[in-house]
Amino acid sequence: MSRSLDDVTAVQGAFDVAAWADEVRALAAQRDAVILAHNYQVPEIQDVAHHVGDSLALSRIAAKADASTIVFCGVHFMAETAKILAYDKTVLIPDEKAGCSLAETINGEQLRAWKAQHPGAVVVSYVNTTAEVKAETDICCTSSNAVDVVASIPADREILFCPDQFLGAHVQRTLARDNMHIWMGECHVHAGINGAELRRRVMEEPEADLYIHPECGCATSALYLVESGVVPKERAHILSTGGMGEAALTTKAKKVLIATETGIIHQLQKSNPLVIFEPINRAAVCKYMKMITPEKLLACLKNGRDEVTVPADIADRARRSVEAMIALGTPSKTGE
Ligand code: 13P
Ligand code: SF4
Repeated sequence: MSRSLDDVTAVQGAFDVAAWADEVRALAAQRDAVILAHNYQVPEIQDVAHHVGDSLALSRIAAKADASTIVFCGVHFMAETAKILAYDKTVLIPDEKAGCSLAETINGEQLRAWKAQHPGAVVVSYVNTTAEVKAETDICCTSSNAVDVVASIPADREILFCPDQFLGAHVQRTLARDNMHIWMGECHVHAGINGAELRRRVMEEPEADLYIHPECGCATSALYLVESGVVPKERAHILSTGGMGEAALTTKAKKVLIATETGIIHQLQKSNPLVIFEPINRAAVCKYMKMITPEKLLACLKNGRDEVTVPADIADRARRSVEAMIALGTPSKTGE
């Protein structure tokens, strides 16, 4: 008979990860469930999941999943995207209250009003948005393909890019595109990794490489450090979390400073144990991602909750914008 997490912790007085992981995998098999985990999840959840990745990689896996149930260990918009792409499957999230401060910066009504001010513009939305916003969108993007998505739109078409101002600025800078309007949303975690902190850490660690997520408030400062010769160009990389994972596999650096949510460090360290990966800001922790705990994952597999639902008409319209993005392919970087 399998032991529950409560039994395990009561008997041993501590969290027995191996027993918990065995139970999670056994319950997943009973439910015909595949467990997907975002790179920002706690290490135990990353290690027990069938697949770990960035938001684009996980969307693609969800779309092709054979299992009848998808258990999404990430935030709500990610589980919603899985539901949109795999509508006939049951999609579960261990805590439906795991939201996203960035996704909250724009709703369907606000986007409709913005579109009315720019008739004919192409709407590009970051996947960190609700299903309702995706339903109002022409093509979605993630941090790993935002540059490619915008580059695929004819140069003479006006673009409405939402909701992340730093990702939008990165795309605009990379493509030198002057007909992009950018929504002024931000993620509280990434906006908090600022230029002053980046500069201080770079001065402390002059030999280290830099991996910077394009949602960060410090992305512009990183480019300034490169342009002013403080950091050599080949050592500063603007990457999605998936792109960081790939870069970690082959880096020759002894140390890499990371500007994103600290959960990624676990994946990077596993990819390349010979390198030291250090966060630029140790306080860059997404409280929403961390609402998915080992206990809640176990309870979710036992009870089949929380189930993620999206009204069929919204899902149909949202699917078009997500599939338009997926059809473009899988670039692994952000187009540095
Ligand atoms: P990725 O697209 O790199 O997975 O990032 C998602 C996210 O929520 C960043 O905060
Ligand atoms: Fe949203 Fe920011 Fe958390 Fe990513 S890190 S899920 S953008 S709040």
